Amino acid sequence: MAIFSLPERKAWVLRTQHADYVIGVDASGALQHLYWGEPLSISDDIPSTAGQHAWIWEPEEGNSREECMPWGRRNFAEPGLKVDFADQTRDVVLTFDEADIEGNTLRIVLKDVLKSLQVTVCYRVIDIFDVIERSVDVKNTGMGPVNIEQVMSAIWHLPVYPSYRLTYLTGHWGAETQLRRELLHEGKKVIEARRGITGHNNNPFFAVDFGEATEETGLVYFGGLAFSGHWKIVAERTPYQTLQIAAGIHDFDFRWRLEAGESFVSPVCVGGFTNQGFGDASRKLHGYQQQHVLRGSGQLRPILYNSWEATSFDVNETNQKELAAKAARLGVERFVVDDGWFGQRDHDKAGLGDWVVNKIKFPQGLGPLIDEVTSLGMDFGIWVEPEMVNPDSDLYRQHPDWVYHFPDRPRTEGRNQLVLNLAREDVQAFVYNAVDELLSTYAISFIKWDMNRYFSEPGWPGAPVGRDREIWVRHVNALYDIWRRLQEKHPHVQFESCAGGGGRVDMGIMRYADQFWTSDNTDALDRLRIQWGYSHAYTAKSMVCWVTETVNYMNGRQIPLKFRFHSAMMGTLGIGMNLNHLTEAEMEEAAGYIAQYKTIRPIVQEGLCYRLSPPEQSDLTSVQYVAKDGQEAVVFVFRHAQHFGHPALPVRPRGLAPSARYRNVATGEVRSGQGWMSRGILLRLTGDYDSAMIRLVQDESNTYESK
Ligand code: GLA
Repeated sequence: MAIFSLPERKAWVLRTQHADYVIGVDASGALQHLYWGEPLSISDDIPSTAGQHAWIWEPEEGNSREECMPWGRRNFAEPGLKVDFADQTRDVVLTFDEADIEGNTLRIVLKDVLKSLQVTVCYRVIDIFDVIERSVDVKNTGMGPVNIEQVMSAIWHLPVYPSYRLTYLTGHWGAETQLRRELLHEGKKVIEARRGITGHNNNPFFAVDFGEATEETGLVYFGGLAFSGHWKIVAERTPYQTLQIAAGIHDFDFRWRLEAGESFVSPVCVGGFTNQGFGDASRKLHGYQQQHVLRGSGQLRPILYNSWEATSFDVNETNQKELAAKAARLGVERFVVDDGWFGQRDHDKAGLGDWVVNKIKFPQGLGPLIDEVTSLGMDFGIWVEPEMVNPDSDLYRQHPDWVYHFPDRPRTEGRNQLVLNLAREDVQAFVYNAVDELLSTYAISFIKWDMNRYFSEPGWPGAPVGRDREIWVRHVNALYDIWRRLQEKHPHVQFESCAGGGGRVDMGIMRYADQFWTSDNTDALDRLRIQWGYSHAYTAKSMVCWVTETVNYMNGRQIPLKFRFHSAMMGTLGIGMNLNHLTEAEMEEAAGYIAQYKTIRPIVQEGLCYRLSPPEQSDLTSVQYVAKDGQEAVVFVFRHAQHFGHPALPVRPRGLAPSARYRNVATGEVRSGQGWMSRGILLRLTGDYDSAMIRLVQDESNTYESK
C-alpha cells in the first residue's frame, strides 16, 4: 500500500486499498497526471507520459493533465497557479526538480524554468479510505516580492468518459446542503463562496460519476476542500471533452504577497475514489473524517439541551434553572445557554463584542446556574459570537477601526452587526482573551461559536503594503489559530461551529470542531432533505439535530413528537423545545426517545450510513446505520404524507452480514441478514408524518451455515 516510485519511468504510484493514483514526469519535465481508478497491479498497465495529441488552435497544453497546471504558455484551462512577478512577468512553467517519500506522504518539488519560484505538490495517502489529501506550497526563492493571484489546492483530472455528472450541495439559510446532480456539458460549472465563510449557498464538496453510478454501484470520484473562507471548485470540460476539477481558495479579490524566502501553503483538498457508488463514497469520507479530521472523534457526543428556541434573548438565572431541571429529567447530558447572556444583549441590535455577563440577568455571574446544571448531572455549554460587533456596544465605541471597512465609506450591517478584522493582531488577541477568560472563569465544557453575517466592504485600512487582499485567508487562519490555542489551554472544552445554522461546515474547521450546527431550520420534515444532503459529505457524528416545538417557527408545520425525534436521532441529538410547554405525557414520551437514543448512539454516530430511500423520490425517506462490526443496525423510516392507494413499499436494509441471524427488537422476528436485505421490511405507516425506528440485532451464537 501507500506510495512507490518507478524511477526508470520517473513515475509514482499512490496506492490505496481499492485505487491507484499515478503521476509522472513527461519529456518536457512537467508533472503529469497519468491515471486514477481501480488498482493497476501489473506494472505494464501503468500508462506512460507520452505526449498528448493536439489540434490546430487547441494546443497540447489544453489536452495536458498537469498536476499543478500553472497559468503560463498556452494553458487556457482553469489554472492551478497564477503569479505576478516584480518585473511584470506573469508566466509560470514548472518542471520537476526532486521528489521525496516519507511514510504515506509524497512531496514533489517543481521549479519555474527561469524565475526563482518553487512549488511543492504534496500528497498524503489515507489508504483504508481510498482518499488522498493534496496541497501545494509556493515558495519565493528569489530576492524581490512575488504576488500569488490564484493558487488551487488541487487539480483533479478525471479519466476520459463520454459523459460526466456532478453531484454537489447547494441551498441557502434554512435549507443548507440540498443535493443536486447534473450532467456537465462544455464549459465550467463553478460552485463557490465569496462571502467570507464557507457559506450556506454552496458547500466545498464534490462527487463526479459518468452518469451511471447509483447509491451502491458505479465509479465515483469525490472529495472536498478543507477551508472555511473564500473558495471555489471549478468542474471544467475542456475542448478535448476531458474533465478537470480545480479546488482551492477563491481567486476573486485575492492576492497574497510573498516576500523573498516566504512560502504560502494552500489548504488541503481531499480526493477519493470508489467503484461502489455514492453510498460508499460517503462512508469513505465519514470514516476518513472520524479517524483523521474531526476533533474529539474518539468520544460519543452528549445529548444537549439548547434554550435558544425556548427563551431567545430573554435568558436569566431563574428561567434557565427551570429549563435545566426539566432537561435533566429527560436524560439530557449537557445544558447550553445560547445568545443573550452578556452585555446589553436584549435583542440583536446591541451587545456583541461586550463579553461580560449581564448582571441584571445573572446577578452573581454564571456560577450559580453552572453549579445547578452540574448538580443535576449535566455539563454546561455557552454560545459566543466573538468575530462580531454591534455598533451599539462598548467595544465598537472604543475601537471603530477594528472592523473590516473602506476608509470614509459606509459600513453595511448584517443582523445589525459588523465583522471584526481578524487579520489584525490586536483583534486576534482581543477575541482569544475574551473566550479564554470565559473558559478560565467558569466550568464550561462546550462552546457554540456562532458567526451571523457575511463579509462586506472587506477593507483593511493600515494593512502592510500589498497585503490588504489577504484578509480572505488571514481571517480564516486566525480563527483556526485562536481555536487551536483555546483548545490547547482548555482541552476538555468541545466546540460547535455555527454560522446562522450550517454556514461554516467544512473539513477545514472540522479539525477544530467537535460538531456543527446543521441548520437553523429545525422542521423535522425539511431536515430530512438537509440531513440527506449533509450525509453525502460529512459524518453523522458532526451533525447536530434538535427536536423543537410544533408548530415549527419557520414554516408553521405541525409534526408529531415521534417523527421529530426520529428525524433528530439520525445525527447528534439535541433538544431545543421550551420544556415548559410539554405536558407530563409528552415529557415521558420524550424521555423514552432519549433513552432509546442512548442505546443506538454508537451506531448512529460511529457506524456506517446507508441511504435507503431519498426524500425527493417518494413520500418515504429511509436511512440506516450499521455498527462497524455488523452486530446491529438501525433503520429510520419516515412517511411524509398519506396518499390513498399508494402501495406500502418494503424498506430494504443494506450492509448486514448475509448469513448472520438478526432479530427485530420490536417484533422478535428473526431472519438472516440476506433475508432482511432481500425481502425488506414492510411497514404500515399511516397518516401524515408517521415514522418508525427498527433495530435489528445480531444473535452471534446463531449464524446460519452457508449452504
Ligand atoms: C444563529 C444561530 C442560532 C442562534 C442564534 C442566536 O442564528 O444559528 O442557533 O444561536 O444565532 O442569536
